[in-house]
Amino acid sequence: MTNAMPGQKPANPLFSSGPCAKRPGWSLDALKDAPLGRSHRAKPGKAKLKLAIDLTREVLQVPADYRIAIVPASDTGAVEMAMWSLLGARGVDMLAWESFGEGWVTDAIKQLKLKDARVLKAGYGDIVDLSTINFDNDVVFTWNGTTSGVRVPDGDWIPADRAGLTICDATSAAFAQRLDWPKLDVVTFSWQKVLGGEAAHGMLILSPRAVERLESYTPAWPMPKIFRMTKGGKITEGLFEGETINTPSMLCVEDYIDALQWAKRIGGLDALIARADANTKMLADFVAQNDWIAFLAKDGSIRSNTSVCLVFSDPAVQALPADAQAAFAKAVAGAIEKNGAGFDIGAYRDAPPGLRIWCGATVETADVQALTHWIAWAFAEAKAGLAKAA
Ligand SMILES: Cc1ncc(COP(=O)(O)O)c(C=O)c1O
Repeated sequence: MTNAMPGQKPANPLFSSGPCAKRPGWSLDALKDAPLGRSHRAKPGKAKLKLAIDLTREVLQVPADYRIAIVPASDTGAVEMAMWSLLGARGVDMLAWESFGEGWVTDAIKQLKLKDARVLKAGYGDIVDLSTINFDNDVVFTWNGTTSGVRVPDGDWIPADRAGLTICDATSAAFAQRLDWPKLDVVTFSWQKVLGGEAAHGMLILSPRAVERLESYTPAWPMPKIFRMTKGGKITEGLFEGETINTPSMLCVEDYIDALQWAKRIGGLDALIARADANTKMLADFVAQNDWIAFLAKDGSIRSNTSVCLVFSDPAVQALPADAQAAFAKAVAGAIEKNGAGFDIGAYRDAPPGLRIWCGATVETADVQALTHWIAWAFAEAKAGLAKAA
């Protein structure tokens, strides 16, 4: 039997998990109003930064009493700024279910050297038992595990009357999953994920309780300028009005504003979530129709609708040694990429071998559908290669 190459490629073959595809219809023309060559502290620049904050609040439905800042160094900058500024006042539960969460564990244990820290870890495709968390402690976690395709189901597991703060890395969840604001004290994300913005800047969102901690607690360690959010024991309010700590890229800001305005035009948060859900359903239908491919996250209630991770469950592939399984998955992704039908869909380097397909809001469902035909084709080619080699 011959394995016919699919006739149609995705109109947009970009499925990377960050930077993610630009919004449908995007072109460089979207950036023409950027106040380039002007100071970001001059009126036009400040107005743009404030607009980016205001649109973030509107589209993400952030409560009025939460503060929103644009900070340096992307999501990592925002998470570390929060960890360095807030942790150490009480114990901490560090939750990790993939490599980015593990990075925050390293920060807490090896860099900040927090003594009163509990580490709760789950393997790829799973999350920890959420009933075992101590909310007298601060809790640091990743809402959506980008490298393993898992997410927390909701915020119901977080008590409203917790004593500690919740610090949530939501970079691959924001704008595609509903964040339960009253349960979250710190939320971070960067622009290049669900809205397909440009990388460089981080967003840091603080609850009133997080601000209270900032104003009442001084960490024992030195605080670089880039992390400082208070002056003389008071929160630096300007930071949350667009007075950034250091110089932002006004081109990236303009692009983020464009993405937020697109989000508003198509119907806001509900529409963004619906797009990610529809893309993921396309893959779920594909998985249901084919017994050789499966989700890395077996439990549907914790399965991501943005970074969807798939493994080759075919017995012949599963029987291969680990390095040969990795080579098989690479061959599948490589064949698709070589034909220009799907870029950057290989599993993350530390994750189990397989595919990771970004299904965030900027991706079109018809493109995911077209990609599935290419996955089926490339899998059959790779499997035929296995049979030949045997
Ligand atoms: C869950 C998670 N946290 C942190 C990061 C790092 O983000 P950034 O490169 O914006 O600092 C990523 C990047 O993919 C991520 O997926």
